[in-house]
Amino acid sequence: MIDPHCHILPGLDDGAADDAETLRMAADLLAEGVDTVIATPHVNGVYRPDAATIFRKVAHCAELFEKARLPLRIVPGCEVALADDTLSLWRRGLLPGLGGGDSLLLELPPVFLVEGARRLIEQCVDMGGQIVIAHPERNPALLRNSKLVETLRYAGARFQITASSLDGFFGHAARDFAESLLRRRLVEYVASDLHPRRGVGLKKAAKRIKKLCGEEMTHILLWENPRALLQRQMSSALREAI
Ligand SMILES: [Fe+2]
Repeated sequence: MIDPHCHILPGLDDGAADDAETLRMAADLLAEGVDTVIATPHVNGVYRPDAATIFRKVAHCAELFEKARLPLRIVPGCEVALADDTLSLWRRGLLPGLGGGDSLLLELPPVFLVEGARRLIEQCVDMGGQIVIAHPERNPALLRNSKLVETLRYAGARFQITASSLDGFFGHAARDFAESLLRRRLVEYVASDLHPRRGVGLKKAAKRIKKLCGEEMTHILLWENPRALLQRQMSSALREAI
């Protein structure tokens, strides 16, 4: 299984503090059947790791896993909070796409301008890229007005829910919203969004999704879609822009 959202890189954000914590998280992922993890440190008003640092830390973790004999593949990415400069950073190659490809994991702030988000999504799609919105079920603006999800989807966004939302870890409202998004077939990806002292939750989520959407959809969401995500290459428009 591929985990497409995880704060496993040491010392970059509120994820793993050091190598020891990174190794503990890697062991937890392996125990849940994850063989590939996309490292997605926060890029926001508090944490600003640059792309070169993220790539360097990914290489460091790959070495760490090899030494510890942990069969976990790690690839770069980031989780960027929507801001005025998001598109320009992305176009300049300063934000690693998921797995180094053309998909950008975007976190929406609690309050945001829909028009700004829509424009970013459309411009990214126009360049041949893809915006994946992290945990819509935990966003207060989307929780208040679920029609916004359809607006963003229509603009070309894809949605990734957090596995443990389905277990009620983030409260009943997030759990119910995640389930309703699944029933409405508005979810493409499921991820751990793993931080220290938080469970991976993917195995439990798979069981719940099987009940809600059936075995085939569970396979698509947890295996096929993330695999296809890693196979996406940079479009020529994006490569030129970068
Ligand atoms: Fe995250």
